[in-house]
Amino acid sequence: MTTAGPTRFVLSPARRLEGEIVVPGDKSISHRAVILGAIAHGTTEIRGLLRGDDVLRTLAAFRRLGVSIRDEGDVVRIDGRGLAGLREPDDVIDLGNSGTSIRLLAGLLAGRPFLSILTGDESLRGRPMGRIADPLKKMGARIDGRDGGNLAPLAVRGGGLSGISYVSPVASAQVKSAVLLAGLSAEGETSVTEPGLSRDHTEKMLTAFGASVRREGLKVSVGGFDRLAACSVDVPGDFSSAAFFIVGATILPGSDLTIRRVGVNPTRTGLIDVLRNMGGRIELENMKETGGEAVADIRVRSAPLTGVTVAPEIVPRMIDEFPVLCIAAAAAEGETAVTGASELRVKESDRIAAMAHVLGQFGVQAEDAPDGIRIHGLGGSLGGDASGRRIHSHGDHRVAMSAAIAALAAPSETLVEDTACVATSFPGFLGLLESSARP
Ligand code: S3P
Repeated sequence: MTTAGPTRFVLSPARRLEGEIVVPGDKSISHRAVILGAIAHGTTEIRGLLRGDDVLRTLAAFRRLGVSIRDEGDVVRIDGRGLAGLREPDDVIDLGNSGTSIRLLAGLLAGRPFLSILTGDESLRGRPMGRIADPLKKMGARIDGRDGGNLAPLAVRGGGLSGISYVSPVASAQVKSAVLLAGLSAEGETSVTEPGLSRDHTEKMLTAFGASVRREGLKVSVGGFDRLAACSVDVPGDFSSAAFFIVGATILPGSDLTIRRVGVNPTRTGLIDVLRNMGGRIELENMKETGGEAVADIRVRSAPLTGVTVAPEIVPRMIDEFPVLCIAAAAAEGETAVTGASELRVKESDRIAAMAHVLGQFGVQAEDAPDGIRIHGLGGSLGGDASGRRIHSHGDHRVAMSAAIAALAAPSETLVEDTACVATSFPGFLGLLESSARP
């Protein structure tokens, strides 16, 4: 039903999704496992590491920083020699499309007494870095970049940091993590208070590696000079990858799909709450905990959806699931409104504009606003041009995969162009979709 060229998907309609699948490892947890393994003392073993381009960039960065990393297939072994084991990189570090890599590394390297130059692809070089450079400069780092230090390439001359109490204007795990990682090399305590709780994988994993992390409400603190001890990390499946299948199985009548061993940390699963409010049938089975992270099998059966108003408070818990939520809203009966989501404008693409375009291609009316979107659902199958749709991904992996899910509910073939970006987070996406879709 699907074919893939090197940079495009051609998708036919599907009747339903069914069976059991496993999605690749969590991207956020994979980055953090590599970062903490590289600065801990001893050998960290990581199982289930995501081999997406974003995480491979983080791995390559640490090799350039002098860390020995052995990829043995099932397990990746990182021989950490502590923070002091990192050495000045002998070239620019290119982090590709990965916002998590550049922001977390900038934070970590702000504490090291050498020069690092961090850059990325065109999309990454257009994304705001002032949000991390500002607090890191307050701690004592010297950071420069284009646009007064707001845009990569970033030149980070680290060392000599003092802890700060930072009140972040955005609920962003990348900002929080950058400051906390800098805090590991700072004199005294470092804390970050956010306006809403963003994903808390950094805090959880720092604790698993033996750091003393304290949380009081929305404030989280680390002590300076904490010594991290190597750990074993079992990376669960990525909820953000599972999300495409959760929406696909919800909107295609007759679907019954189980996604095994997915990370269901509550700071990530806002999409489940919203879909349940819309009428979705989603169950979590076999709940377990690994490294402080909740893991479960997710069973999804199809259900007719009704549009809802998404409360702004839930947005940080589903920030990456917005593109695929738009597809659920498109298939729902009635209107769905999202507000308080201006962060979506500065992701891998402007996701509000990109999704308004995608929805239009499927015959769905949507009005975008600076901080959200209003979608007029079609109440069932999607539409659009009878002779087929041709959709551009905007170079954004989550837009490409959301369009692919919508294509399953369309009346005829859909072409999604510029899909190489899918490999940043979900290698094997199309094959997995093919294995679970029934024509
Ligand atoms: C991430 C944090 C989020 C998210 C991104 C991954 C992380 O970004 O959108 O895909 O791993 O810390 P923000 O922190 O900028 O919201």
